[in-house]
Amino acid sequence: KLKKQQLYYEVNKLAGRFFYNNLVQRKNPALEYILKRGLTTRTIKSFGLGYALNNWDDLLNHLKKEGYKEEEIEKCGLIIKNKQKDGYYNRFRNRIMFPIFDIRGNVIGFGGRVLDDSLPKYLNSPETAYFNKSETLYGLNIARKNCENGQVVLVEGYMDVIALHQQGFKNVVATLGTSLTKGHGLLLKKYFDQIILCFDGDSAGTKATLRSLELLQNVHKNIKIILLPKGVDPDDFIKKEGKNAFQRKINEAVSAIDYKIYLAQQKYSLNTMEDQINLGKEIASIIKEIDSPIEQEAYIKKIEEKTGISKDAITREVYGRKPATD
Ligand code: CTP
Ligand code: MN
Ligand code: MN
Ligand code: MN
Ligand code: MN
Repeated sequence: KLKKQQLYYEVNKLAGRFFYNNLVQRKNPALEYILKRGLTTRTIKSFGLGYALNNWDDLLNHLKKEGYKEEEIEKCGLIIKNKQKDGYYNRFRNRIMFPIFDIRGNVIGFGGRVLDDSLPKYLNSPETAYFNKSETLYGLNIARKNCENGQVVLVEGYMDVIALHQQGFKNVVATLGTSLTKGHGLLLKKYFDQIILCFDGDSAGTKATLRSLELLQNVHKNIKIILLPKGVDPDDFIKKEGKNAFQRKINEAVSAIDYKIYLAQQKYSLNTMEDQINLGKEIASIIKEIDSPIEQEAYIKKIEEKTGISKDAITREVYGRKPATD
């Protein structure tokens, strides 16, 4: 068993090196694409980015020459068995390759991005005994050694992690295209004191934020949220606005309650009394979720300032008629 694991790491590492050499040794469209997106050669090196050529069997032949059997390489997720005829072919073709590392720095899989708008945009290694997406966070091997004051920023994508890293934010991790799991939550709890959610500024990102908050609330008490402009992800943001602007975003990250209140406020135009009533009720139900009465009171005060709904009314809405006793 241990031998199989060793082989898995070895083969994937060799593949990573193969892809890396493809990317950096001569001019090619993948390198052009990556540089055009603003990544430096230094960043390419530190993340071990690579290029899977538009070729059916170059990696396969390379690994065979290194002494590995086709069945072994297949189990590493790098080649696929031909259904019609005999033989195998490369899983990743004509893609920019992002090696995925475990916490110790072993290569346990890859994400591969197309160079254009074709689909699927990303193709990932299949899950194996050694590669479990629901327990892997991209960038964790770096972030765990680089978190100032225990903070980690959780983003959606490979490019988000890398772009932020290049601008000096090395405490950034991403899930691998799956939604956050309990396993991710425990990992984050193990290595960090505070999680800052920074998902894409679109409806998928909002949904992912709410789901993540729900999942994390019992595991992790200290969570903040960064709101990005519409249609913008962290990579876009930092490229456009710069690192000081992103640092400001971190400093101004809001609590889960503030985030939910913000979303509620977005939902209603407040032109009608009905809107105002519904907003008030929704905010009250958000405040109900808060455990600490002191915190509740603080939020109620803030809501009064923000919406003009009286403290007294919110309080009664939250507690029912009587004050809460549980
Ligand atoms: N993802 C995936 N498979 C897809 C699409 C997305 O696994 N078909 C995962 C990838 O890990 C990706 C993340 O979800 O990084 C976020 O997706 P998206 O926002 O669409 O991509 P970006 O990371 O923003 O990539 P890019 O900037 O290159 O478009
Ligand atoms: Mn990082
Ligand atoms: Mn997205
Ligand atoms: Mn994105
Ligand atoms: Mn992006």
